[in-house]
Amino acid sequence: MAYKIGLLGLGTVGTGTAEILLSPEGRHPLLQELEIHKVGVRTPDKPRTLQISPDVLTADLESIVTDPAVDIVVELIGGLEPARSLILKAIAHGKHVVTANKAVIARYGDEIFTAANEKGIYVMLEAAVGGGIPIISPLKQSLGANRIQSVTGIVNGTTNYILTRMTAEGADFSEVLADAQRLGYAEADPTADVDGFDAADKLAILASLAFAGRIKLEEVYREGIGQVSAADIAYAEKLGFAIKLLAIAKREQPTGTDPTDRLQLRVHPTFVPKTHPLASINGVYNAILVEGEPIGQVMFYGRGAGAGPTASAVVSDIMNIAAILKTETEPIPHPLLSCAHQHYCAIAPMDEVMARFYARFLTKDEPGVIGKLGTCFGNHGVSLESIVQTGMRGDLSEIVVVTHDVREGNFREALEDIRNLEGIASIPSLLRVL
Ligand code: HSE
Repeated sequence: MAYKIGLLGLGTVGTGTAEILLSPEGRHPLLQELEIHKVGVRTPDKPRTLQISPDVLTADLESIVTDPAVDIVVELIGGLEPARSLILKAIAHGKHVVTANKAVIARYGDEIFTAANEKGIYVMLEAAVGGGIPIISPLKQSLGANRIQSVTGIVNGTTNYILTRMTAEGADFSEVLADAQRLGYAEADPTADVDGFDAADKLAILASLAFAGRIKLEEVYREGIGQVSAADIAYAEKLGFAIKLLAIAKREQPTGTDPTDRLQLRVHPTFVPKTHPLASINGVYNAILVEGEPIGQVMFYGRGAGAGPTASAVVSDIMNIAAILKTETEPIPHPLLSCAHQHYCAIAPMDEVMARFYARFLTKDEPGVIGKLGTCFGNHGVSLESIVQTGMRGDLSEIVVVTHDVREGNFREALEDIRNLEGIASIPSLLRVL
């Protein structure tokens, strides 16, 4: 039986989601049981690159969330309204909901989850924070055994891109922002990103899951990156820091004088020591560092936005719901928790693997040795990226070679020839290069 999806929105993420659903080959078998039943769009007859039947398109979004045939409503229209009302109406009609809408969840999570709990349905939001990075499921499930102490994230790609370029170029904020807008990395109205509103929404969601309590968005402290100057970045560099817009949720340790169990919730540009794992997260990438007891530190890194990554998170939520629906109606093991496959994977023999190699040779110090080495590699189709004689080790010359990507079998054949060469004393090191 197929699970019917009502998709609201066919923008960047909606199209990415439909593309995954329409091409299940090579993905989890459960995807073959998902069917796009209806897609709500503003203009159904607009030309689109997506190969989708025009019959499923409708401008009547309400008809989707009330359609008795729809099992799962996927809300990807963004913005506060009509997204909030459509989500609530879908819940009222007993539909499970998947959404990427951090703004709605951060503001109306209370209302939405109360309604969902009353109806006994799921509202899933993996795509709302960190795009393709799995962070919601880990906080809800995989890390559930831990007492979470803090969640610290770079959760806004636009500001991380701007700060990274300011650092690389020594440029000022306004200059880089203008260029980022021209290149499409920042919105025409960049307020939500550069003033930290987007990060605050995401932090409210993360904190709510990490610390199992509802969060009032207005209690999240927020500063944007507009105040960061090229001079600040230069000083940070000199002092051994990177400046990052961090979203921090931290449990305060209760003390004897103040035993209240409280959270710190703050978004602000921060001097991050270069040795800290978040200091090297650059460009549009996002990362979230979770600290808990007993796990210690665990970090999640990846693309925080974009069609593919965000759609990846949306579809994983759809699959989670479909798996539950399936076990409710069929006496089978949970499709995502059980091991469904039965065949063995085909593994490439190492001889056929393409890789780069580093090799170190000790040779007699005599004319023609480097030439003979090069000829042996060439005879076996092994292309060298560099070859250097680094000096002497005792009375032997030390020669180091780095190859381009080569077939391992060819490289080994070349080495066999080299080992037999007059003048080669030994090959003490052989390592693969990434
Ligand atoms: N505008 C966000 C960012 C992406 O720059 O990271 C969507 O959450």
